[in-house]
Amino acid sequence: MSPQRTSPSSRALRSDAAVHRGPPLRLLMDGRSVEAFAGESVAAALMAAGWRELRLSPRAGAPRGAFCLMGSCQECLVWVGACKLPSCQVPVSDGLEVESLAWRERQP
Ligand code: FES
Repeated sequence: MSPQRTSPSSRALRSDAAVHRGPPLRLLMDGRSVEAFAGESVAAALMAAGWRELRLSPRAGAPRGAFCLMGSCQECLVWVGACKLPSCQVPVSDGLEVESLAWRERQP
């Protein structure tokens, strides 16, 4: 599953007005480096980077992505280490390794 890129820059999708961001950092999503800021959730950082598809629905195989952003819908599930977690509830940290469900299934 590849990210749906809608903007060449993740900064273009972040508001810069009246926002006090934490220090910049990077996480790894499916082995790709993604810009993030301390205090963001993994889902927010991925959305800002243009990453829309986080998994495929089990029945139809339709792309699914962050929806509620409050931990209720489970549409944003990702692997963080050995845990499958809603990415909207996981704070970013520098070097955090995140994998989409489809990406991990394809790994040998
Ligand atoms: S977007 Fe709904 S649980 Fe994360």
